[in-house]
Amino acid sequence: MSQCRVCGASVTLFLDLGNQPLSDVFPAGTPGSEADEFFYRLRVGACTGCAMVQLLEEVPRERMFGDHYPYRSSGSAVMRRHFTALAKRLLALELSGRDDPFVVELGCNDGVMLRTLARAQIRHLGVEPSVRISQTAVECGVQVLNAYFDQETAVRISAEHGPADVIYAANTLCHIPYVTSVLDGVAELLTDDGVFVFEDPYLGDIVASTSFDQIYDEHFFLFSATTVARLAERHGLALVDVERLPVHGGELRYTLARAGKRRAGGAVAELVAEEAARGLHTPEALSVFATAVRRNAHDLVELLSRLRGEGRTIAAYGATAKSATVTNYCNIGPELVSVVYDTTPEKQGRVTPGTHIPVTPAAEFADPYPDYAVLFAWNHAAEIMTKETGFTDHGGRWITYVPEVRVL
Ligand code: SAM
Ligand code: TMP
Ligand code: ZN
Repeated sequence: MSQCRVCGASVTLFLDLGNQPLSDVFPAGTPGSEADEFFYRLRVGACTGCAMVQLLEEVPRERMFGDHYPYRSSGSAVMRRHFTALAKRLLALELSGRDDPFVVELGCNDGVMLRTLARAQIRHLGVEPSVRISQTAVECGVQVLNAYFDQETAVRISAEHGPADVIYAANTLCHIPYVTSVLDGVAELLTDDGVFVFEDPYLGDIVASTSFDQIYDEHFFLFSATTVARLAERHGLALVDVERLPVHGGELRYTLARAGKRRAGGAVAELVAEEAARGLHTPEALSVFATAVRRNAHDLVELLSRLRGEGRTIAAYGATAKSATVTNYCNIGPELVSVVYDTTPEKQGRVTPGTHIPVTPAAEFADPYPDYAVLFAWNHAAEIMTKETGFTDHGGRWITYVPEVRVL
């Protein structure tokens, strides 16, 4: 029995994705280099008290976000535009008119968002534990504190810089099992009329599109409007706005303010009602999702095995952290998918976690093109397909498994 990291009630398992490696640790691929891969059990459940969907086992944070951490936010042009637009919106709607405003970002990574605020000479601080990745942020003029944000870090920041008008986090809050300490920290650090804005993959989209690869070690929570509203309340905060985002396969942007300080817009009540109407957190809905996951996994292995049996060559595109869940749950190794193409230098020349498919620079995709390419980075499908039109012009076919297994 596991206890909810938000409210302490028991968590009921609805999907067991088996033993999994760390999703962002790519072994060197040399003999013996895989021997010390760390495995954990990937099981996901819903709280019987507050409904929060969460993993049953926590991977120690130092194993995930050390200096080996390879993820670079700026690797996608779409995401660069997304974060620039968000920074401009914060400037226009939250920061203008304030006297010497201060912005704190949790998980600023390579500074993809804060570089716009730095250029606008806004006082800011990016909190980022992965030192190596954060060096790029520093080179772009971003102020960085190399630390894990929690209540203690918030006290330190507040003492040194004063309160924050905006606290922002993208694809970071859902990574943090000690979310209650983070929210205590936010409540400590925020100005009286400040906002905490964060965006993360949305449970509603994950269930609707059977995107079970959104579940992995780093994605500890799968948030929804209902569960975030309850989480906020426990910390004297209120969910005052939600916005659907198309990025990363479907996310929600949440805005929290101190309780009573801002009127909640209609979007919150609307989405909470919609989640209730579709029974999003009910054991029945989560069990239907789990069945769909098993079907997709089965269909994918069947398709790849058939194509290989017919002598087709199959590669994959995007050595995403997400795909570790798929390859390890489905036991897809180099016999089925011979290579994964990816633009990240830190992943190239290595092998994928657990099932050890070689990772090769995306620039080599055409030499020669495979017959089929599985879109591991399906969340960047439009960007990748636009860039790689030569593949389909050449007769190549994309394979996806979201929302179902299909040859495109
Ligand atoms: N915000 C960027 C984006 O959306 O592309 C980066 C997201 S990345 C998936 C998650 C980031 O959170 C990593 O850079 C990781 O090192 C950082 N992180 C993990 N735990 C953290 C914590 N407690 N406080 C601040 N950052 C943290
Ligand atoms: P993400 O889904 O966590 O953002 O990871 C995307 C991965 O796909 C990352 O390793 C970079 C890679 N990638 C490419 O190789 N080419 C591309 O055009 C894009 C957008 C991503
Ligand atoms: Zn709970």
